[in-house]
Amino acid sequence: MMNRKAFIRTFGCQMNKNDSDIILSLLAAEGIAIVDDPDACDIFVVNTCSVREHAERRALGYIAALKTWRQSGDRLLAVVGCMAQRRHQELVTRFPHADLILGPDSYRGIGSDIRTIFANRTRIIRTGFFTETYPGIYRASPAVADFVSITRGCGNYCSYCVVPYVRGPLRSRSPEDIRREVESLVRSGTRDITLLGQNVNEYRHGETGFAELLSAVAHTAGLFRLRFLTSHPKDFEDSIIDTVAAHPNICPWFHLPLQSGSDRILGLMNRRYTVRDYRRRIQAIRSRLPDATVTTDIIVGFPTETEVEYRETIAFVEDLQFDDAYTYRYSSRAGTAAEQYEPLPEDCIARRLRELIAVQNRITGEHMSRMVGRDYELLFEKKARNGTLGRTRGNVAVLVEAELVPGSIANARIREIRGRTPVGIVTPRGGGEEGQWR
Ligand code: SAH
Ligand code: SF4
Ligand code: F3S
Repeated sequence: MMNRKAFIRTFGCQMNKNDSDIILSLLAAEGIAIVDDPDACDIFVVNTCSVREHAERRALGYIAALKTWRQSGDRLLAVVGCMAQRRHQELVTRFPHADLILGPDSYRGIGSDIRTIFANRTRIIRTGFFTETYPGIYRASPAVADFVSITRGCGNYCSYCVVPYVRGPLRSRSPEDIRREVESLVRSGTRDITLLGQNVNEYRHGETGFAELLSAVAHTAGLFRLRFLTSHPKDFEDSIIDTVAAHPNICPWFHLPLQSGSDRILGLMNRRYTVRDYRRRIQAIRSRLPDATVTTDIIVGFPTETEVEYRETIAFVEDLQFDDAYTYRYSSRAGTAAEQYEPLPEDCIARRLRELIAVQNRITGEHMSRMVGRDYELLFEKKARNGTLGRTRGNVAVLVEAELVPGSIANARIREIRGRTPVGIVTPRGGGEEGQWR
């Protein structure tokens, strides 16, 4: 398509970000130029999220604000992703300026959809079936750190969660497809890859389970760092920890969403583990890999959560000392099992969230203070206002006040914590046979 330019705005999680990259690859294959400036495009793609009401509200406001843009020329607005799947009927009537509406498994035809729309000025809505894994799309990327989806969908039906409804059942991509995408990214300069799935533990393709896949990907020539996200506590087996321990390029960072520190609430959430099970998983990680970082997700204010049960979450967070936690207020989602329950008062949920954030901020701060004076291997990812940002193997962003080439590696000694960012200076690599830092 001659002279067409596309811009994409992504809401939501890393999966959605990864889907946006798939969409961009499909558009580029059609000869459409990809631009970073929304003012320079004539195809505007909004990739939406449905996980919490707040995410939907932001996307809805964003789409509404594109009306004037859409009406000011021969342009095309595409609304795609999880909210497009969930609320397509409503979007069609509410936003007459949206030309194309696609669910997460309907991207493959996006090029012909766009051609049809520009030729006939018609509207297309496709929310199709949940069978896609997008095989054969091997992306190149200028990013130092990038993501590769290994599964799509989720069949766990946690009672609060909309994902199984908007992304369909779990499917695993073939190991060959995953390896080829990883190789393609590494060839284009990516050095740090995160394997993505709603629950990577459930990856299975024929004989290959997650631990085998992880080990196979770790052998990719030139892959400097490998990570994975997310690990559901219900089936996080020790074999995964063993695999991480066995491969120096697999980073010792584990993200296991706790959600709640109360067994009754975990039961209502349909999480299928107890607080005791969860603690054992973390102990297994820490006894095997003492330097591992462990992060989590927590929801406060799940319906019927008592003050005592909420305190159990706080006590557990104090006890487990997570390196970091993503904390959320419960958001009721239409169609989920938890929708039947009466929500707690908003001010109660807000207070619980505020308190939890304060507790975790202090703990995260303490973890960071302990970094001061120690040396960390950094992979530099991007320039910052006053230096270069690198990441540790434990997934902590560190600022070095010097110009370093993105993609380069150096050891840095942490000098201070500024706000929430450790600041370090580059030190010679101890015992380093290869002076990789430039
Ligand atoms: N598959 C991952 C997470 C998916 S969504 C897992 O199983 O953990 C990311 C996080 O959003 C979840 O871990 C949860 O903490 C939060 N979340 C999901 N649905 C939510 C809801 N309805 N209200 C508040 N937070 C929610
Ligand atoms: Fe949602 Fe649970 Fe699936 Fe995670 S495991 S995506 S929280 S249903
Ligand atoms: Fe991700 Fe939001 Fe969809 S969290 S899977 S983009 S609902």
